[in-house]
Amino acid sequence: MSVYSASVTAPVNIATLKYWGKRDKELNLPTNSSISVTLSQKDLRTLTTASASSTFKQDELYLNGKLESLESARTQACLGDLRKLRSELESQDDKLEKLSQFKLRIVSENNFPTAAGLASSAAGFAALVYAIAKLYELPQDMSELSKIARKGSGSACRSLFGGFVAWEMGDLENGQDSKAVEVAPVEHWPTLKAAILVVSDDKKDTPSTSGMQATVKTSDLFQHRIKEVVPQRFDEMKQSILNKDFNKFGELTMRDSNSFHAVCLDSYPPIFYLNDTSKKIIKLIHKLNETEGEIIAAYTFDAGPNAVIYYDEANEAKVLGLIHTYFNQVDGWSKADTSKLSKLEIEGTDP
Ligand code: ADP
Ligand code: DP6
Ligand code: CO
Repeated sequence: MSVYSASVTAPVNIATLKYWGKRDKELNLPTNSSISVTLSQKDLRTLTTASASSTFKQDELYLNGKLESLESARTQACLGDLRKLRSELESQDDKLEKLSQFKLRIVSENNFPTAAGLASSAAGFAALVYAIAKLYELPQDMSELSKIARKGSGSACRSLFGGFVAWEMGDLENGQDSKAVEVAPVEHWPTLKAAILVVSDDKKDTPSTSGMQATVKTSDLFQHRIKEVVPQRFDEMKQSILNKDFNKFGELTMRDSNSFHAVCLDSYPPIFYLNDTSKKIIKLIHKLNETEGEIIAAYTFDAGPNAVIYYDEANEAKVLGLIHTYFNQVDGWSKADTSKLSKLEIEGTDP
């Protein structure tokens, strides 16, 4: 009995314009478009193998060595869409093995903290969808596959591309066109770097999915964010990337991180993702930029206390030097684990 399998790796992406809010839970359509940068797979990545065999009794997902429940509607939506595309291929070519009728075994491993605000759901679902698409030999392009990954986890649609990526919210009426597209390849701005400061690798109290649902339901400020703030910021940020304008890109990135955490705080009851160390990092970066007289470093925080700092390679010694100094010398920063400070290159994704 044959076992068919395919393995891929997928990268993490960190949003510089945040997705936070769903307008349709089943299709996982966002309340706003978002922009992200894909990080190097040399440091953070998901490795997933998908196998199919007529001998498998049920679909199974092993995540970091543990059998996970596959009941979630999100994973089911991904598997259902992928199987449908495979069965369409099978009906066109009867020489093809009927893989769409076999159960799947998915084995996945993240080499970084899961559910800690470092985008594990993004790399995780991008890898899951891409591994099965490869196993099924699907002809669909990345944007088409991104529509499937989106149903697993919104941020996952952006991890199917390298470099600078936009997730377009799509048509308000049906949302069939809500997908990820490339803004610019990594070669466009090869001197842009990212450092991740792992403040805590604990599992977060409020998962992204439930956090954003609470915000949509209860925050007044959120309406202002999605109607007035983000639409304009989306165009400006795209332009700043195309112009390689770090000053503008950095300012918009920091403002959007702050705006996202503000709507979390405006939720009722409030959601706190930043801790004291996160706030000290924010202050330090602003102080550095003030001293320099221009923006040379920009922080952003996802749904967790861990910071991602974007900077240009030319300023690496200054930015990382300062961070190292503070992490090593200032009292009260002891919780920040400097050994996990990693300097990352941003590059394309070619699993
Ligand atoms: P994060 O900030 O890490 O993205 P989320 O709360 O958005 O945290 O999502 C975490 C969830 O994503 C996990 O509990 C798990 O269900 C799912 N996930 C993470 N990694 C993988 C993976 N490699 N394969 C499948 N699902 C994954
Ligand atoms: C703060 O993509 O994890 O990282 O679609 O419910 O799985 P689900 O949420 P998820 O949310 C990510 C939120 C964020 C911002 C971003 O990545 O754009
Ligand atoms: Co996530």
